[in-house]
Amino acid sequence: MPRRKLILDVDTGTDDAVAIMLAALRPDLELIACTTVNGNCVLERTTDNTLRTLDHIGRGDIPVYAGLSRPIARLDFPTPRGERDPGVHFVEMPLAKAKSKAQATDAVEFLIETYRNATDEISLVPVGPLSNVASALALFPRLVEFVPEVIIMGGGHDVANVTPAAEFNFWADPEAAALVLAAGFRNLTLVPLDATHKAVISFEQCSALRASGRPAAEAAAVFIEKRIQGYRAYQRLDNHDAAPVHDALCVAALLQPDIVETCRHFVAVETAGALTIGRSVIDTSFRSGKAANARVAFNADTARFGRFVLETLMA
Ligand code: RIB
Ligand code: CA
Repeated sequence: MPRRKLILDVDTGTDDAVAIMLAALRPDLELIACTTVNGNCVLERTTDNTLRTLDHIGRGDIPVYAGLSRPIARLDFPTPRGERDPGVHFVEMPLAKAKSKAQATDAVEFLIETYRNATDEISLVPVGPLSNVASALALFPRLVEFVPEVIIMGGGHDVANVTPAAEFNFWADPEAAALVLAAGFRNLTLVPLDATHKAVISFEQCSALRASGRPAAEAAAVFIEKRIQGYRAYQRLDNHDAAPVHDALCVAALLQPDIVETCRHFVAVETAGALTIGRSVIDTSFRSGKAANARVAFNADTARFGRFVLETLMA
């Protein structure tokens, strides 16, 4: 079975780091590269955190391309959460200093040239603010013809996490999210908080990860325990002995599409509302009269997700 190729666009953060390790370690995946963006932390930190994560698991060979240091339009762009709200993310990942360096080419040019010249199918998996992908589309609108599949972590229908109306990735760069969803990608899966809040890993599972002695599993245990403590403090969930690992669910859904329950809907992103900026407006009542532009995940198989994460990182 050929390995599935993907590019992860990340704002590394604790859940991004788990997604990176899953993608880099699975024998049925080929992580072509990581592109980094401002989001959980400033670009310099998300880039360094990505380099540290790849070096930690011995995959410093996977190239990292730094992208946008700010949203594409908002002037008053938000303080990166990792600094403003260190609850679930580390500003500096507790890993050895990176030996690897980011590539000289920027993320946007890398995305355009890689897809323009691709001979194999490469899935694009953005799990941070969509500033890089939106910029690539602005420079090269035909990108939508060259990208066979996009799986985005972002948005929320019945769940929000940064304002009463919005999810962080879409809120941090709403114009970018609106542009990407409207671009016309032919195979777009949106994995919002409604699904990722079912993709939780518990303290008990973290203990199993740590007991394995595997570097990736031990690091994931540290990252996820941080998340569990953070969620207890800032967004208490029913199960406060576990936390969602949002971005990792996108990697699982790439290989096991039925790990999430999806429905096709038209989705747009609010870019003006004072109270609702960044909200993913998912037309579940089919009121817009517009054709569906995304397969939207509203649920996830918690047990399968746990097996996927533990089996991959403990191998
Ligand atoms: O809202 C959750 C998303 O915002 C995740 O991708 C997390 O890493 C942050 O980027
Ligand atoms: Ca992220």
